[in-house]
Amino acid sequence: MSGAQRPGRLPPEFADALARRAGRLGGFASRVVWYDIVSSTNDEADRLATGGAEHGTVVAADHQQSGRGRIGRAWHSPPGAGLYVSVVLNPASFMGPIDRGTTSAASRVTLTAGLALAEALRAATGLPIAIKWPNDLVVGHRKVCGILAEGAATGDTLRHVILGFGVNVLTSAYPPEIADRATSIEAELGRPVDRGAVFAESLACLAERLRQISAGEFGAVLDAWRALSPSSVGARVRISAEGGWIDAITTGVDGDGALVVRAEGSLRRVIAGEVRWVASASRGSEESHAPRA
Ligand code: BTN
Repeated sequence: MSGAQRPGRLPPEFADALARRAGRLGGFASRVVWYDIVSSTNDEADRLATGGAEHGTVVAADHQQSGRGRIGRAWHSPPGAGLYVSVVLNPASFMGPIDRGTTSAASRVTLTAGLALAEALRAATGLPIAIKWPNDLVVGHRKVCGILAEGAATGDTLRHVILGFGVNVLTSAYPPEIADRATSIEAELGRPVDRGAVFAESLACLAERLRQISAGEFGAVLDAWRALSPSSVGARVRISAEGGWIDAITTGVDGDGALVVRAEGSLRRVIAGEVRWVASASRGSEESHAPRA
């Protein structure tokens, strides 16, 4: 499908906002490939990375026809309503000097991206964005941004990671059936927002936090992450395990980025899989809704 789609000119408000942050980007995002319409920016970024595109190459689109979310879900991506962005990452950008395995490196990059994007959305909008493990960005209990990191490996060697993120800028960025679990920047702010500023600030914050973990400072990233994720301690959740669901209480995020929960009297580490956040009377929950397709 990508063969039928051709890159276009980066909209001036995006280009200008990037130029204003050039000093923070340090070469990151020096190449931005823009599409008015594309199947999925993650697919396009993967195609470019496989062809040798550099660390920090960005693919962004105004509209995705087959945007992907986590756990096989679709990511609704109508024109002009959101930010749909994917970045090519070289493993050296998130593997600290003593990293060995790719699993913990992958979870590091996911957490780091969540933190960087939460900081970016806060800076660009002033909204009290929080992180819901592993990497949903929320205002209250409603999701405003999702992150999808996909790695490409040859044998045990991680060749690159494509870090994709989607931000709901307008309410039309998400389908009405998830309206009670989703929100948009403009709905929360009650006024229009500069998409270019959100885009460029996201890339600048990402570049800064990735530099930090490549210098071996993941601990500082994790501390900042915890501060923006109050629900990772003391929240009621339901975790998928052994073919069913177990009720649990979150107790924190460990040094590798796993969610630690207390369930059935003992502590468990949740590395991947699904976590459903259970209602408190005031916050709403995912449990009151049918599972998403
Ligand atoms: C999630 O399910 O929360 C993750 C959503 C990630 C969506 C973004 S939009 C840009 C990039 N391209 C895709 O196809 N998906 C990601």
